[in-house]
Amino acid sequence: MSTDHTAALAADRAHHIHPFSYPGEVRAGRFRRVVERAEGVYQIDTSGRRYIDAVSGLGCVNIGYGREEMAEAAAEAMRTLSFHPTFWECTNPYSARLVEQLQRLTPDNMQHFLFANSGSEANDTAIKLVRWYWRLQGRPGKTHVISRDMAYHGMNLLTASLTGLAPCHPQFGLPLPGVSHVCAPWSWVEGTAGDDQDFGRRAADALEAEILRLGADNVGAFIGEPMQATGGVVTPPASYWPAIRRICDRHDVLLIADEVVTGFGRTGAWFGQETFGFNADITVMAKGMTSAYFPVSAVALNARIGEALLNDPGELYHGYTCSGHPVGAAVACMNMQILEQEQLVERVRDTLAPAFWRHLHALEDHPLVGEVRGMGLGAGIQLTADKVSRAFFPEDSDVDAQVTGHCYERGVIVRDLGADTVGVMPPFVTSEAQLDEIFDAVRYGLDLTLAGLNRA
Ligand SMILES: Cc1ncc(COP(=O)(O)O)c(C=O)c1O
Repeated sequence: MSTDHTAALAADRAHHIHPFSYPGEVRAGRFRRVVERAEGVYQIDTSGRRYIDAVSGLGCVNIGYGREEMAEAAAEAMRTLSFHPTFWECTNPYSARLVEQLQRLTPDNMQHFLFANSGSEANDTAIKLVRWYWRLQGRPGKTHVISRDMAYHGMNLLTASLTGLAPCHPQFGLPLPGVSHVCAPWSWVEGTAGDDQDFGRRAADALEAEILRLGADNVGAFIGEPMQATGGVVTPPASYWPAIRRICDRHDVLLIADEVVTGFGRTGAWFGQETFGFNADITVMAKGMTSAYFPVSAVALNARIGEALLNDPGELYHGYTCSGHPVGAAVACMNMQILEQEQLVERVRDTLAPAFWRHLHALEDHPLVGEVRGMGLGAGIQLTADKVSRAFFPEDSDVDAQVTGHCYERGVIVRDLGADTVGVMPPFVTSEAQLDEIFDAVRYGLDLTLAGLNRA
């Protein structure tokens, strides 16, 4: 690639509408980063400066950047079969092998798989399948889907409606009808300790109350991330998910686990369901499936749902051009091979997560830190104006952005997740020395932010 990017960047600022960005900043040429390449855990900008990416891109680059085996797998598939649809009873060895691998590595009860290209598409597909399933059961009224506050399930019309982050709705007149949100198991705002098992059950009861309010005959599914990543790394106590499973069973409501972030090792097990002790009816996966080397996502169904749908003699009127794309499938298989051969999920569980949490717990006595929460290699650092009352900072103070800004000065990328929370989700190939660097930068960011607040 040419090293003079001037003309391209001028076109970008004038003509590129950037997602989740302020257009005014882009049009003024105030790009936050212009990243030229990335390798391992590092992003390298156009001035040659290296940053540790302690958020794995968008919680997706789990095996690290720039791996030769991944490039080779993609190139080999591109040379051999650059495209073929999986429509009309067609398949190819790449997508067939992907199914074989997924069936082996996903939770045991997951038996049938559909492919898409993004988490949003996969969640949207999951909801369509829920509707089809209930129609086949003679219960077409069961269309309502219950989600949660702080949830992130995607950005197309339905999945943005399921997303429980309020700013995502008004520009587009969302949420659509047929969707509602119950409280997140967010103990910080509920004023209980993070491991309070009664709180977990109480938070789950909110789902039952909502099902009863709507009438179970109208409710098709409940959707939730095992650990709510984007919405602040909201992490429920152990009692929560088993209680949710019981409630769904009691009312004949399907349980969809959105494992777009938690799938493929983030919590220290292959899937968050294993970490949080439940089995979903439908599992949605994306990001970590390919470590974002290629846009691939999937919906997995348990035997009950899968068999019911497959026994419908009619054609399935759903699919995307690139569903089961051979190159994406080859890339996903290589990603899983790397995770297995390098025992990266075990590394997260046994080596990295213990070191990561030692660093996080050491931050707890910092005056700005209210709590640290999360699981495996995913954490949210909750900042607070008052550790006792758990007060949030005034909306315009942007303390989390200040902390991330200072970390950036030290060459470490962490993420401001809103609600005074700083997110940290490093790749699974991060070394312990790099973890030290990440948390040196976080402490520096906290200290500088505190000093600024004390001066104000
Ligand atoms: C849990 C979860 N579900 C779904 C999505 C949407 O995925 P995509 O951006 O690939 O559409 C995301 C994206 O961050 C996510 O975190």
